Amino acid sequence: MAKNLHHLFPSLVFQERILPSTAKLNAELKKESFKFREIDETGQKWCLKNYPGGYTSYGSLDQLYKISPTFDELRLKIDKSVAKYIKSLDMLVKAKDIQMCSMWVNIMSPGVTHTMHIHPLSVISGTYYLQIPKGSRGLRFEDPRMVAHMASPPRRPHAKPENQRFIEMVPRVGEVILFESWMRHEVPPNPLKTERMSISFNYDWR
Ligand code: NI
Repeated sequence: MAKNLHHLFPSLVFQERILPSTAKLNAELKKESFKFREIDETGQKWCLKNYPGGYTSYGSLDQLYKISPTFDELRLKIDKSVAKYIKSLDMLVKAKDIQMCSMWVNIMSPGVTHTMHIHPLSVISGTYYLQIPKGSRGLRFEDPRMVAHMASPPRRPHAKPENQRFIEMVPRVGEVILFESWMRHEVPPNPLKTERMSISFNYDWR
């Protein structure tokens, strides 16, 4: 930290590799995800309206860990990361009281985007990355203090990360990114010809 400066009220975002990119579990998760896209007619209809050009099981199969042992295996790994993140945040809860309550898959075809949003009523949200082709866009966070920024001059293009208004984190396959559910975030349009695949989830306070 630079001399004379205190970092007050920072936003902590957690990023960790939980599987090697070549893990057999990734191949199985992908295979099942493509299968869900093929058979999930309710989801296909939901996506036409809410996720044009792409497939997400958010509107149809949003508890994949309950219907697939493969996704449940991933949940157990994410649970461990969530426990570490809770500790880093000094939350006054037991890790077992913060439990996964939803998990869904996202397949972003060329041009598909996910605009700025939060995950209401959850405590911790995040995404696990299954397929991130070279040149993929990342997960882009907005400074949560934005509403309080009246009369604050813009920051330099190459400002230090802690002084930027938006931060885009580009993950690698096998990594998980966790954030507090109130943080606004988006995924910019997929600029590539290949699909970008991820698994998102929420943890609630039980
Ligand atoms: Ni989200």
